[in-house]
Formats: sequence, structure tokens, C-alpha cells
Amino acid sequence: MYESDLLLLIFLILLFAYLKSSFQSFIKYHQLFRKIKGPKTLPLGLIAYIFTANSEADRFQILQNLSKKYPNFYSLWFGSKYLFVTDDPNIAQKLLTYPQCVEKNFFMELFGFPNGLISLKSDRWKSERKLLNSSFSLPVLQSYIPIFDKSIRLGVKELQQKCDKGEFDIKHDVTFVVMNAVLNTTFGREISKDVIESIIKSTEKLLDIVWSRSMNPLLYYDSIYSLTSMKKQEDSHRRLIFKFIDEEWNELQNGSKSILESSFIHQLIKVSNDGRMYTKEEVNDHVGTMLVAAGDTTSTALNFLFLMLAMHENIQHRIVKEINEVFGELEDLIVDYEKLSELKYVEMVIKETLRLFSPATGIFREVKAEVDLGKIDSEIENLRLPQGTNLIINVFGLHRKKEIWGENAEAFNPENFLAEKMSERHNYCFLPFANGSRLCIGNRYAMIFMKLIVAHYVKNFHFSTSLKYEDVKVKAGITLGLIGDFSVAVTKRR
Ligand code: HEM
Repeated sequence: MYESDLLLLIFLILLFAYLKSSFQSFIKYHQLFRKIKGPKTLPLGLIAYIFTANSEADRFQILQNLSKKYPNFYSLWFGSKYLFVTDDPNIAQKLLTYPQCVEKNFFMELFGFPNGLISLKSDRWKSERKLLNSSFSLPVLQSYIPIFDKSIRLGVKELQQKCDKGEFDIKHDVTFVVMNAVLNTTFGREISKDVIESIIKSTEKLLDIVWSRSMNPLLYYDSIYSLTSMKKQEDSHRRLIFKFIDEEWNELQNGSKSILESSFIHQLIKVSNDGRMYTKEEVNDHVGTMLVAAGDTTSTALNFLFLMLAMHENIQHRIVKEINEVFGELEDLIVDYEKLSELKYVEMVIKETLRLFSPATGIFREVKAEVDLGKIDSEIENLRLPQGTNLIINVFGLHRKKEIWGENAEAFNPENFLAEKMSERHNYCFLPFANGSRLCIGNRYAMIFMKLIVAHYVKNFHFSTSLKYEDVKVKAGITLGLIGDFSVAVTKRR
């Protein structure tokens, strides 16, 4: 047989497998699909529609417009997958609190790290989460503050060199400071600049590849994906991350290194010594998950935050005022957890950034056993989602809904998070870290780190930019992206 014939045969077999699973899926969900509003395309229709968009921003907008066209919830086909999408806080609350919806869906399988908390199947997830919750207890997080502080001070030194030199993209500076802190708290020791840079590169590339794959349903089939160069690149980035984790783990087990006791890897060793023996793969996935989950999300939030500060002079002024009130007008900041808790306005600014530029644009789950959502609108009496339904909570849409955030929902306004305003809103209207039992384990870690970096940076620098808020265009990715640069200028604050 000629090589071209063989390729054609493989292609036909794969196409058949794809059409078969699309058809089976179509039959299973057909009744539900007819009942729920949404774009009535056949399985491949929406993909074709999305890909006719001119740019990534348009593509993201098409998906967001669907949420506006079909308010609160809709269903659609994406390749052979049946999706139920919602931006309604009542439905989100049900989905995030029902035990049948704690499972992650196919999307997280592409993310990899199958033994890590983010992707772990629900039957193993519960006990594993219980074991790891103490790794993010308050005393542990308090012990990280000096490490955060050190990494941020190094970042301040770097930025000082960029003072009065015009606009630059702040993304890499911020990402470096975040990853330095994350690697330090994970491995309990200082990590060299070269290693930090290579881990940043590999995690970023890995997430780009996972995102590109997720947008192409044909590549969900491992048999097809394994033929691509993307797969080779993905493997090489994972290998680099795992090699580093392996070396650290082995040295620790040999007892040849003394490191911070509260560091994540040290806590894994303790859990392991207490009888839950981790395999090499489990260690790699747990630690790899932390690096990827912590680094990219926190840097994305901060990049948008500094861009917003650069655009809103008045907000910088209020932050300076608050820093002076809490810390006194000293040359330097002496930071502890209590002082950080007093930074109420800084917290509102961070939350407003997480509202408008939530790094996770959606929360992805799968129905493990049929759920009854009850009466969710005037036309549907009892909506039952069968086992296997893919769920997406459209966090980006929820966070910009006028019915919740008012007519000016799209404007950047930290006052949205005044306690009296939030008390009038639904508990599930703000979900940057999800909610319910599978809530982000690192949410307090991230908030402490972000408060500290904002306090140090605003104390030291004045931010400005020539970009206008109206021109900020975002794109979807594993985390939210900006089209263009996070372009800011810094000058020394006196
Ligand atoms: C601004 C920063 C962050 C944002 C916006 C964020 C957001 C999220 C979201 C939306 C989820 C998914 C929950 C779900 O699917 O239901 C999640 C899960 C997770 N995050 Fe974060 N995260 C951030 C920072 C961190 C940090 C700093 C760490 C670790 C140090 C971390 C570790 C994790 C882990 C391990 C999970 C999986 C939890 C589980 O399934 O049990 N995240 N995060």
C-alpha cells in the first residue's frame, strides 16, 4: 500500500470515529437541545461560524454576544460536545454547589496534570483536596509574606531602571516577580534567574498550546493530536517542568537540602511520610498544577490592574492615601498580615480588576449524575441536565451583566465593591476564583500577594499610559489576554 493510501485510510477511520461520536452525542442530547434556547447549529456549525471571525477579539465577542442574545443560559454544540452555558448567578450557585457537578469536563483533560487538583477526577479529588487544604492555611500563608516581600522588592529595583524612559510592556516584569515568589513558596528556597525564566517560558507556551488545541475539536482525539508538532512542543515543555520538579523532590527525599518547612513541596513530603505515599507522577502533577495555576492567573490579574491604575490617576491617589494611613508616611513599608487586611480600598481595586478582567473567563464542569435545576425560567418547568452534559459558567459575561452591576457595568469603578453595594447583590455574582467546594485553593494566597505588590509598587511609582480604556480589547485564552501590550510608563513617586 502506498503511503498516501495509508494516510487516506487513517484519515477516513478517524473521520468515521468523529462522526460516530458526534452522532451519538447528538441523539443523546437532542431533546434537551430542542428545549433550551441557543444557536441551532449542527455540531460543526458553530466552529465554522466562530472561525469566520476576523480576529481573536471578534471571536471572543461572538461567544459573549451569544450570552447577550440568549440571556441567563443557552445550549450549543461545539464539535461533538454538547455544552450548557450560563451567566446567571442562581444557576451558577446550583452548579457550583451540587455534588454531581464537581467533576471537571473534557476541557480540563486537555490541560493535563491528571493527578493535580485542577484536573483530578471527582472520585479522587475530594480526599486529595482535604489533604492539601492545610497547605494553604492562614499560618502557612503568613509565613510566605517575607518571601513575597523579597520578590516584590527585587521587582521594584528592576522597575526603577525603567523610570522616566517612556512606555514599555510591563507584562514580563510582573510575571517574573509572581513566578519568583511562586517558585520560592513551592520549593522553599531561592531559585536562579535562568530557571525562573525557563519555567515562565514553558508554562506560557504550554497554556498557549492547550488553548489552541481546545479550539480545534478534531485535535481532541489523541490519535490525531499525537501526529502534530504541537504535541511534540507540549511534551517538551512538560518535560522541562517535570525535570525541575523531579530534581527538587529527589534532593529533598535524600535529605540533602534544608528548605522552608511551610513550602508546598515540603508539605507534600509530610503528607507522603504520613502514609499517603505519592508516586513520581502524582508529585509532578500536583506541583506542576500549582506552578501553572498560580503563575499565569495572578500575573494576568496584575497586568490588567497596573494598566487600570495607569489609566485612572484618581485611583492611584486614593491608594497612596490609604497606604499612608495604614503604614504611616515612612520611607519604607513594614508589612504584616494585619496591616494588609486594613488595605480595604486596595482590595476593592483588586476585586474590580478581577471583575472586569477575570483571568479565568469561564468555569468548566461536567454533570456526573443527572441534576434537576428546577424551574429556571417561565418556559421550562423542571430542567434536568443528563449525566455527561458539559457545563460552562461564563464568568466574563456574569461579571459584566447590567442587571447585576448596573448600566455602567463596563466601566472600571472600585466603588462597586463597597460592602453596602455588595450586600445587595447575589452571593454568586462575583466568581473570579469560582465558589463552592471546588473553589480555587490559592485564592487567599493570590489576594495577599496582590495587595502587597500594589502597596509596594504604588508607594514607589506613579503609573501612566497613552492607552485609553475604550481601546482595551481582550481575547480568550486559558486565561484572559489583552490584544496589544500592557503599555505603561513609570516615574518615581515622591
Ligand atoms: C488571581 C489569581 C487566581 C485566579 C483568578 C484563580 C482562579 C481559579 C479558578 C477559576 C479555579 C477553578 C475552579 C473551578 O473550576 O471550579 C481555580 C482553581 C485552582 N487554583 Fe486558582 N486562581 C488564582 C490563583 C491561584 C494560586 C495563587 C494558586 C496556588 C498557589 C492557585 C491554585 C489553584 C488550584 C490548585 C486549583 C484547583 C482547585 C481544585 O480543583 O480543588 N490558584 N483557580
